[in-house]
Amino acid sequence: MTTTPTSPSLVATLPGHYYTDPEVFRREQELLFESLWFCAVRVADLDRPGAFRTVQVGRESVLVTRARTGELRAFLNVCRHRGARLCTEESGAVRRSLQCPYHAWTYDLDGRLIAAPNLIKMPDVDRVAYGLIKVALREWLGYAWVCLADEPPSFEETVTHAAVERLGDAAAIEHYGTERLALGRRVSYDVRANWKLIVENFMECYHCATIHPELTEILPEFAEGFAAQYYVGHGAEFGERIAGFTVDGSPGFATLPEVSAEQDRRYYAITVKPTVFVNLVPDHVILHRMFPLAADRTVVECDWLYAPDVVASGADVSKSVELFHRVNVQDFEACERTQPGMSSRAYRGGGVLVPNEHHIGLFHEWLLHRLGDDRA
Ligand code: FES
Ligand code: FE
Repeated sequence: MTTTPTSPSLVATLPGHYYTDPEVFRREQELLFESLWFCAVRVADLDRPGAFRTVQVGRESVLVTRARTGELRAFLNVCRHRGARLCTEESGAVRRSLQCPYHAWTYDLDGRLIAAPNLIKMPDVDRVAYGLIKVALREWLGYAWVCLADEPPSFEETVTHAAVERLGDAAAIEHYGTERLALGRRVSYDVRANWKLIVENFMECYHCATIHPELTEILPEFAEGFAAQYYVGHGAEFGERIAGFTVDGSPGFATLPEVSAEQDRRYYAITVKPTVFVNLVPDHVILHRMFPLAADRTVVECDWLYAPDVVASGADVSKSVELFHRVNVQDFEACERTQPGMSSRAYRGGGVLVPNEHHIGLFHEWLLHRLGDDRA
């Protein structure tokens, strides 16, 4: 009698080397992070003309600034003279121009070359042709999304559609008014795991009963292992005695003004592939942005966003922050525990997905398709 390693209802995962191989990671940088829209910066972090942030997008450093007109602009963070990195800090502010620290070529906030020392004695330099290289930028949910592709894919099809796909309705996410919310807390996690382990973990709730005691207390149905992401339009309901999405179930803040009765007392989660997670609860929004830095290292920046009056009043947000901070720590520990197994011979052929992880299989199909790989 022949035996197969998995029963027909189990689906194979990606093989281990997809999580460890620098060449796979390089192709992901090129074909995902540098080709799709990448959520780079929170718009409100650039609060005045001249404010800038630099972010790693695939293999490129991208500079996002606020121009004098108030609009956001994104450029490759590379001087057009001899290629020095223009801004070396992660964030800062300039008065009206960006000056290269090497030979002092100077660009205005629209990227035009406006000065170069001794230029007068040198052959003519075309100030427009040698301006900074522009990067496409769109705003959504109060974040600046950039795209390095020469011809960016449709923002609607590749980004905002994720919300429609999950919530079943384009307007549903608008009810949270995320772009109008204020930052209550930001925590940055340096996770020693491949970015895909973090995505896969976020997509399933099979692990919730094991590692998330606080979360399953708030959302009892999570203990059954079916993630909110399993069903279209489904939000996980708060437990009967739970007043708010807080670490001890105590009351949170007033429900955001446009959140519908159907959305009240529920948690919704959306994965915007490849690097963003949006968590919606009645009184706040939690948004994760991943910055994959190597095959085995990902920085995750998590923002807790509240109604502006909550933040302005100095209200204590720590009980709601603490809930998802614990969830984050529990999740990232699990991912870090999994990462070494990816290079074990035990995982050469990968593992398996149980039926309630089926949407992870769809993520793998999406990834293989983007990379142009066959499921060998
Ligand atoms: Fe920037 Fe020379 S490399 S001014
Ligand atoms: Fe989790």
